Amino acid sequence: MAVVRQHAPHAQVMAAVKANAYGHDVALCAPVLAETGVDAFAVASLEEAETLHDLRLERPVCLLGGPFDAEEVAVAAARGYLLVIHEQRQLLWLATHAADAPLRLFIKVDTGMHRLGFAPDQLSAVFAGLQSHPCWQVLGLMSHLARSDTPEDPFSRQQAGVFVAAIAHFGHCTAGQHTLANSGGVLALPFTHQHWVRPGLMLYGLSPFAGHSGTEIGLQPVLSWRSEVVAIRELAPGDWLGYGAAWQAPAYCRVGVVAAGYGDGYPRHLGSGAPVTVAGQATRTLARVSMDMLFVDLTTVSAEIGASVVLMGAGGPALESLATRLDTISYELSCRMQMRVPRQLVS
Ligand SMILES: Cc1ncc(COP(=O)(O)O)c(C=O)c1O
Repeated sequence: MAVVRQHAPHAQVMAAVKANAYGHDVALCAPVLAETGVDAFAVASLEEAETLHDLRLERPVCLLGGPFDAEEVAVAAARGYLLVIHEQRQLLWLATHAADAPLRLFIKVDTGMHRLGFAPDQLSAVFAGLQSHPCWQVLGLMSHLARSDTPEDPFSRQQAGVFVAAIAHFGHCTAGQHTLANSGGVLALPFTHQHWVRPGLMLYGLSPFAGHSGTEIGLQPVLSWRSEVVAIRELAPGDWLGYGAAWQAPAYCRVGVVAAGYGDGYPRHLGSGAPVTVAGQATRTLARVSMDMLFVDLTTVSAEIGASVVLMGAGGPALESLATRLDTISYELSCRMQMRVPRQLVS
């Protein structure tokens, strides 16, 4: 959070905690984020908003996808959730709601990503419709950056240009609380900072930029996924290991069995040769990952049963490097972590 404030000192911070705080556990992370001073939370669904509501953190909660039906408008209104309106259908749902009930809205503008949002030339009609409901307050315009993970790309500047033009036309119909920047924007594209910034990934200490870990760009990974060695096997040359007997010891090999598997969200494709830290020593995984267990090479590692294992994050391999190994992004890898892995807050 300190890094967000350092880069965007004048912006309000809306922390993206959707998808269970990017897999980290929203019940654990959101209170910490509230303590560090985030001004609002952003989620993807009403269910996620309700989870935050139950945490009673007394910060506005924004539904990034807006309501998904008319009933959600009623719940959102009762709770005071901020709604992102990106589609004509949602305006009809809003209209089924009592016109004199207050609703706080963002209007999403499609500035070039072509995912959600009204095209700039639809905004006149949208704002004309909103005027007949004076009690609905449009906080500001919202848009999303498509390529902020490659900051040198001119696309973000083009998007920001479209956004600023929309603000010039319609900003006076809003409370001026516009928002464009996600983590990449916060870190590398100051011209995208508006009233609100909406970082997600960087709040968990992870880097949005390919080829760089969070640590390399001044962030601290908040996750340290730990387990332990629950059994040790000594393999003779030629012995097979694990499901499919897919790995054969080329020589004497000491193997640790670790209590974590793909049922916990450790990807099966990290089975052979992924970095892992055991009792503070770097080693590698072996053979296939099972649902609840995986194998690590202890041949040159001094570790006994009970030795601590760091699968990813602080004290072990960077989550970003494992994501690269899997040919995916850290967002996807962190979201895979399952809630059956017990979470513990350490300061
Ligand atoms: C609309 C919107 N805003 C903000 C964010 C946060 O993005 P990041 O995690 O890259 O900071 C996301 C994430 O996907 C998003 O969809």
